[in-house]
Amino acid sequence: MKNFMVAPSILSTDFAHLGKTLEIINRSEADWLHVDVMDGMFVPNISFGTPVLEAIEQHSMKPIELHLMIVEPERYLEVFSKYGIDQITVHAEACLHLHSVVQQIKSLGCKAGVALNPHTSLGSLEYVIKDLDTVCLMAVNPGFGGQGFIPETLEKIKELKQFIQRKDAKAFIEVDGGVNRNNVKEILNSGADAVVAGSSIFNSDDPLRAIQELKKPIEI
Ligand code: DX5
Ligand code: ZN
Repeated sequence: MKNFMVAPSILSTDFAHLGKTLEIINRSEADWLHVDVMDGMFVPNISFGTPVLEAIEQHSMKPIELHLMIVEPERYLEVFSKYGIDQITVHAEACLHLHSVVQQIKSLGCKAGVALNPHTSLGSLEYVIKDLDTVCLMAVNPGFGGQGFIPETLEKIKELKQFIQRKDAKAFIEVDGGVNRNNVKEILNSGADAVVAGSSIFNSDDPLRAIQELKKPIEI
């Protein structure tokens, strides 16, 4: 049975208690820690930068996936890669030279992910898919936590799965945005390997249990 991966996103947490949140994630069954960096240009929101990444590196025991929602991400790859980052995910829409950016990420010793906005078709990945560790399908328009899951994403997951098989590629399919205990099984059944979840975990009374419940579809 495949190991369905869950990556809690700390975007929706109370930053006054970031250490406590990271402790919870460390104790949980989460596979990765998902960290959203936003620049107020690529998306209409600004999240945080290197001082927070430094704190995360010191306290997280989970592999860190950095989701860069910034323009010209190539300008920051080297700086960000120094904070114990396992995977860097950039947006195809933010990269004029996506192939080159993917190679830069790998040359820094990180896994490479590419995220696609809800409207972006899979075609932009045609000639880079074999180089990718992860394709992250955005199931919301990026920028904010707590939005509703866009249902067309399910079809996109299925198409991506076939595309990856046809290309004989190895990329994981990750789904980011609006994921909760009610839709996670359908997401898994559509072919996803991993989900990112923020508000459904951290707005719940028991984040540890919420993480477990997202991982649970594999036991059904
Ligand atoms: C949105 C971010 C997501 C966000 C998910 O732009 O990329 O990672 O934190 O939050 P939820 O699960 O609340 O949609
Ligand atoms: Zn994200």
